[in-house]
Amino acid sequence: MNAEELKQVKEQLKEGHFPQWMVTDPEIYKLEQNKIFAKTWLFIGHESEVKEPGDYVTRMMADDPVLMMKNKKGEINAFLNSCSHRGTRLCTEDYGNKKAHSCPYHGWTYNLVGDLIGVVAGNKVFGEKMDKGDWGLRSIPRVESYQGMIFGNLDPDAIPLEEYLGDMKWYFDIMLGRSDGGMEVRGAPHRWVAKANWKMTSENFAADPYHVQTTHRSAVELELTPKDPMYASYGHQVVMNNGHGINVITSPTGESANKYQGMPEHMWPMFEKNLTQEQLDVFSKVTNFVGGVFPHLSFISTQSGTEGNKHNHLNFRVWRPIGPDKIEIWVWYMIDKALPEEDKEKSYRGFLNTFGAGGTLEQDDTENWARIVEASQGKMARDRGLNYDNVINYLMGFDNLEPDENFPGPGVAYPSCYTDHIARSMHKYWLELITADMEEENV
Ligand code: FES
Ligand SMILES: [Fe+2]
Repeated sequence: MNAEELKQVKEQLKEGHFPQWMVTDPEIYKLEQNKIFAKTWLFIGHESEVKEPGDYVTRMMADDPVLMMKNKKGEINAFLNSCSHRGTRLCTEDYGNKKAHSCPYHGWTYNLVGDLIGVVAGNKVFGEKMDKGDWGLRSIPRVESYQGMIFGNLDPDAIPLEEYLGDMKWYFDIMLGRSDGGMEVRGAPHRWVAKANWKMTSENFAADPYHVQTTHRSAVELELTPKDPMYASYGHQVVMNNGHGINVITSPTGESANKYQGMPEHMWPMFEKNLTQEQLDVFSKVTNFVGGVFPHLSFISTQSGTEGNKHNHLNFRVWRPIGPDKIEIWVWYMIDKALPEEDKEKSYRGFLNTFGAGGTLEQDDTENWARIVEASQGKMARDRGLNYDNVINYLMGFDNLEPDENFPGPGVAYPSCYTDHIARSMHKYWLELITADMEEENV
């Protein structure tokens, strides 16, 4: 991006426009890899996925394969999942339990803290000079967690995770910290590849309840969701620092028909013990939380079932970019450990039917995301000079919505979820990051 283009992009974003060429531009994609995915906190997994010493999962931080495992002391570490000998992928399974990891290529073996403990034919072939201590697995530079959510960062100088999450912690406390014992992931994360750009999918969850009444029209026809086209607008859209945001969706009355998202009444005193008055106020009225942690972790806490018999389910998802127009979607279903097994099962079924890989709502969304990239790759849409007015529209709530000072949670809360405030804030932060050291040189 040259200085002229950068200036123009800045101006356009200020006006609530997003130049369409930036959606799938390969050069932009490269900048995102280096300036965003190598510098921000990326979700790796939940602590409940590695319960016992030796438990491990393999994950991806953008293009870097990660091996996360629990050691004998109960600590969780994350390493580059690449053998120090010739660099092949060390662990090839998705998850499991092992005392040590042996490389499939030449058989080098590493223990649970990543030390190289076995070299086939050892000194006989490598001589005395090679010190095994120098050839352990390479640690992910920073690994930190909040409410059981483990994130990694490739930048050793990054700000601490908690500071990065900022106000989002307050909302994580409601979704993840309301029950004694916290949450657990059920099963392995669902994973599939879709034609889409990661910015558009992140935006869809973090910032776009407006699509619900059209894209998910079939749910209205099946009487799973209300007929009122404004139904996903009621509540607040809350903008936070660093491109994070959440929609706290309620109802026309501002209340929910199912207190605490339909969680069983015997759990209420526990919520009331673990959360503050303000958090309880939000939690008792919310129907859906839907939002995102920049860059590409999204979540939705919703309810499925019939009226009076609704079951809450929460899923976190990562939109891992694998190209400018392709993502790998990872979805973790989570539920309160303290919920009785029978309710967990009902909740899980609700999740599978809606937001699992074969869920109805999931399929509606994926269609649209593919169509965005398909329609953004031609000459007109890709023109960097914007000669064809090729900007897309983020003008909802641009100059007609003021923050609601009375909202009890942190962040800047707007009194409608049909607004582009979070999307605009994501774009602003995104541009700040991708142009980080470009500014002085070019502009
Ligand atoms: S590449 Fe792993 S032992 Fe050679
Ligand atoms: Fe959707």
